[in-house]
Amino acid sequence: MSRRRKLEKFAEILAFDHVYEMSEPGRPEVKLNAFETKDLRGKWREEAFGNDHPICLELACGRGEYAVALARKNPNTNYIGVDIKGARIWQGAKIAKEEGLTNVAFLRIRIEQLALYFAPGEIDEIWITFPDPFPAKENRRMTAPDFLSKYYQLLNNHGQIHLKHDNLDFYDYSVETVEKDKNFKIIYKNEDIYRDELFNPDLSIKTYYEIKHLVDNRTIKYLLFVKNG
Ligand SMILES: C[S@@+](CC[C@H](N)C(=O)[O-])C[C@H]1O[C@@H](n2cnc3c(N)ncnc32)[C@H](O)[C@@H]1O
Repeated sequence: MSRRRKLEKFAEILAFDHVYEMSEPGRPEVKLNAFETKDLRGKWREEAFGNDHPICLELACGRGEYAVALARKNPNTNYIGVDIKGARIWQGAKIAKEEGLTNVAFLRIRIEQLALYFAPGEIDEIWITFPDPFPAKENRRMTAPDFLSKYYQLLNNHGQIHLKHDNLDFYDYSVETVEKDKNFKIIYKNEDIYRDELFNPDLSIKTYYEIKHLVDNRTIKYLLFVKNG
């Protein structure tokens, strides 16, 4: 994508009223459109969505295929796609706007900073969709122990985490890390989800990266784990 097109998308994102961005490094307030700055910690339901419905995050959301598809399907759940790349978020945000989906928003931050923007227990569910595998840097993986402890803090009791991935090394690492973590327990795992009947119909939603991996004949792995109450 050309630099000019990226800048156009950034400008357009600023006009959306469902895309939030970091305001200042280390500060909990988020920017909304070009004018408003809000501290939404503990208030996402009421202030961002105007309801008291559960909140589900899609982490490393890219274009936000899961956030948008699940929002269409479940109008009584609020979805927030989280990614650092504005030009990718733009695509999901634009679809949500065009379809008039009021239960989906996007947050452009680094996932390492999640705890700055949400209160403990504010999140009900997390989907992590094809995060970067970081073959040589395990601690940067989105299922590394430091990330799991952040998710543990943000999830309410019995909150669940879904991970979808193509990379066997990343998947094996994630299974091992979750197994070692006393705060979580694995409910289901599958190294080739399309070989069998789908465990959960939501697994049929395909992201941009998933489609590329399927074209390359890669198998899709899935891990579901829950917070120990
Ligand atoms: C391989 S892409 C997957 C995108 C999408 N989920 C899909 O399946 O098409 C990984 C995404 O993670 C985002 N990402 C990587 N590290 C991040 C971080 N520390 N914080 C926020 N986003 C991050 C990238 O910007 C990218 O969009």
